[in-house]
Amino acid sequence: MTVPTPLIAGNWKMHGTAATIDEARKVAAQVKGTSPRVAICPPATLIHQLSEALKGSAVLVGAQDCHCESAGAYTGDVSAEMLADAGAKLVILGHSERRAGYGETDALVAKKTAGALRAGLEPIVCVGETIDQRKAGEALAVVTGQVRGSLPPEVAGQAFSVAYEPVWAIGSGLTPAVAEIEEVHAAIRAILRELFGAASDSAPILYGGSVKPSNAAEILHAAEVGGALVGGASLKADDFLGIINAL
Ligand code: PGA
Repeated sequence: MTVPTPLIAGNWKMHGTAATIDEARKVAAQVKGTSPRVAICPPATLIHQLSEALKGSAVLVGAQDCHCESAGAYTGDVSAEMLADAGAKLVILGHSERRAGYGETDALVAKKTAGALRAGLEPIVCVGETIDQRKAGEALAVVTGQVRGSLPPEVAGQAFSVAYEPVWAIGSGLTPAVAEIEEVHAAIRAILRELFGAASDSAPILYGGSVKPSNAAEILHAAEVGGALVGGASLKADDFLGIINAL
């Protein structure tokens, strides 16, 4: 079985201006080698500047969303091709903040994922249950349903990752028990196998939601955890490095 190369991706969300690039430079100065792969996903306004600043380093630049079409009359939107042109190599799609705040459905996330692949971007597709769904015992059903609905057939044979982000763990300081993370990750791996065959074994399954230096080692060493999607703790170089170095 292929073991995925771990990916630690920072999601800056709507934080960061030109001055914040210094934090990314500090990260890049410490990241050597090819495992784990490290990515920073700043707001779209910083993608070009950040990719120029990190040129020659091992840190990749990613985006946080894209439109599914390559161009058109979509005021305010940015296409995957535009993000790639600006220097992005990856893109986060279907984050719960977009699902909840902008009504993004699995079907739309699947279209965006196909768009990202068309443009040569590596998608990080996010899934995760709400606290009510977990309390109702529906976590596995919700997450596996999202994986089925959000990954288009185009993913077969391509580089991509899935990020399991329980909605209630994002920005809350709460995390599931390691056994709960492992249960969900195993279920995601089984669906990927079913949908895309053994080739998908190289796709890492990231955990996201309140990852910080103090809990990173435990989470990152759990079964089928192939890295992390990190929000708040990716904004400060020392915290992000603490997570990267926990692997
Ligand atoms: P958090 O966010 O690390 O701040 O909880 C994770 C995410 O939303 O990707």
